[in-house]
Formats: sequence, structure tokens, C-alpha cells
Amino acid sequence: MSNDRHVPVMLQRCLDMLAPALQRPGAVVVDCTLGLGGHSEALLERFPEARLVALDRDKEALRLSGERLAPYGDRATLVHAVYDELPEVLDRLGIPKVDGVLFDLGVSSMQLDEADRGFAYAQDAPLDMRMDQTTGISAAEVLNTYPAGELVRILRAYGEEKQAKRIVSAIVREREKEPFTNSARLVELIRDALPQAAKRTGGNPAKRTFQALRIEVNHELDSVEKAIPAAVKALAVGGRVVVLSYQSLEDRIVKGVFAAGAATTAPPGLPVVPEKYQPRLKLLTRGAELPTEEEVAENRRAAPARLRGVERIREDVL
Ligand SMILES: C[S@@+](CC[C@H](N)C(=O)[O-])C[C@H]1O[C@@H](n2cnc3c(N)ncnc32)[C@H](O)[C@@H]1O
Repeated sequence: MSNDRHVPVMLQRCLDMLAPALQRPGAVVVDCTLGLGGHSEALLERFPEARLVALDRDKEALRLSGERLAPYGDRATLVHAVYDELPEVLDRLGIPKVDGVLFDLGVSSMQLDEADRGFAYAQDAPLDMRMDQTTGISAAEVLNTYPAGELVRILRAYGEEKQAKRIVSAIVREREKEPFTNSARLVELIRDALPQAAKRTGGNPAKRTFQALRIEVNHELDSVEKAIPAAVKALAVGGRVVVLSYQSLEDRIVKGVFAAGAATTAPPGLPVVPEKYQPRLKLLTRGAELPTEEEVAENRRAAPARLRGVERIREDVL
């Protein structure tokens, strides 16, 4: 087990941002991305009166965190769920409104470290990449069965890969000879397919393709698109949502949902904005906040993090 597995990203800032909401009596906080429980444990420690509900789609993460959070007894409720099921989970638990919601999006360090899950391009492993291995299709199935045009779209949209066409031509040629099973063959193929100039920039040339496949396999952007508005909807007035994103596509979705909630919906030109058009949210961050250089030096996984937060200042108008 590597050491940086246990370092939660921008932890102090997340706790401070949630504090005004979680110091209220009977506060409920939801950690939508439990992972190894780093943020969750810190929430339970810092807010001793608060109840935690924590979700993860990865059963192994739930098992490990379950052990870690056992000392907190029934203050912590861990649930195997996708975070866009948040409304159903809260319903089942009989929780009408919550005071804080945290999202630490993306892959956990455990998922990256466990070579056999197939997330890492640096080690040869079966091309799986499912965060929940009990459902869905693997990265190998995506590579072997999707039409070429669909693969190009995915690599461009989710990996921001400029050489998508070139890479996909090579994939299609190769999969006709033999279906893909392992990551090393894909990494090698990408390296061979790219022109010299494209290889000199942006780290490992396979990085963008791996990110794109991971996002597709786990429907990550769809989940984020549904889950952030659902989290905002679940908030009591004074409640806060804090989100850590690791790539620009996720961050763009978060930014859009927060900005829409913080804007008035009044038609232009009204002299006084009636209550029903007033913003429901207040932005807690100006732009996205980044980790400090010190944090990045200690924990390289924090490097791409962008943090945004909002507070609910008004009920939804029905
Ligand atoms: C970056 S890790 C969280 C790390 C955690 N904050 C900690 O301190 O240990 C992200 C976690 O979110 C989970 N996850 C990703 N997408 C999810 C989704 N749509 N629904 C539920 N969990 C998800 C992953 O399985 C992973 O365990």
C-alpha cells in the first residue's frame, strides 16, 4: 500500500468550506465519493455532532472504509450506490434534507494502484476500468466492439485527444487481427501510431486515451451531470456543496450548475427582482481554487484538482 493513498486532496479547505453548514445541530453530511474514507473520517472527527452518509460504487472501497470508519458506529452509514442515485438513497434512509455534500470525483488512488483493475497505463493489466466490477462493460469490450466513429468521438470528447482518428485507425486494424485484452498492447499501439511531435508533449501518449475509456466505461460525465443538481436540490437552506474535479470536462459541468443556481432567472429589465427569480445559490469560490504548491509537492495526485463550492441561500420555488 503506497503512502499517498491516504492523503485526501485539499482536505483542510474542504472541511473549512463545509464548517458553517455542519456545525448546526443534527447536521447530515453526504460524502458522495467515499473511496478510502480519508475525507469522511476527517468530517466525522471535525464535526462530532454530524451524521455521515457515504456512497461509493466500488465495493472494495466500501469494505476498506467500513473497517476504517467502524469506530464511529452509527454516525456513519455507508451505501453501495452510484452518486446520481443520491435522491433515492436519502429517501430510503428517511433523510429529507442535508447540510453538506462532498464530491471528490475521479478514480481513487487504490483503483490506480491495483494493477489488475486496468486503470493505469504504466502497468500491464486486463483492460477493465470499471469502478463497480459487478456491472457494466469493460474497457476491452469498448475497444473491441464500438464502431470506429464512436471511438473517435469518445477519444476527442473525453480525452481531448487530437490524434483520435490516427489512434482509432490503428485500434480497428489491430482488433481485427486479435481482440484487445490487456493494457500493454494498447499503450504500445498508441505509441507506434502517434507522430514524433505528438509524443514530445503531455506525458505518456496513452494518458488521454485511458482517461477517455475510463470516462466512457463508467459513464462519468453523465453521472456528474445528474448528481450535482441532485445534491443542490437535497440541500437545506444554509447547506453547502463542495466539489473537487480532476479534469476540465467535469469542472465545466460543476461550474455550469453552480453558476446557473447563483444567477437570477428574472426576465431582463424588471426594476425589482421578485423572490421567485432570486438566485438559490451563493458561490463560495471565485473561479476554481487550486491546491497549494506545497500540497502538490507532497501529493502529486492533488496536482490537477480544482475545487468549487456553493451555499443554498433560498428554497426552490415550486
Ligand atoms: C478520488 S476517490 C475518493 C477518495 C476519498 N475522498 C478519500 O479521501 O479516500 C473517488 C471515489 O469515487 C468513487 N466513484 C466514482 N464515480 C462514482 C459514482 N458515479 N458514484 C459513486 N462513487 C463513484 C470511486 O469508486 C472512488 O472510490
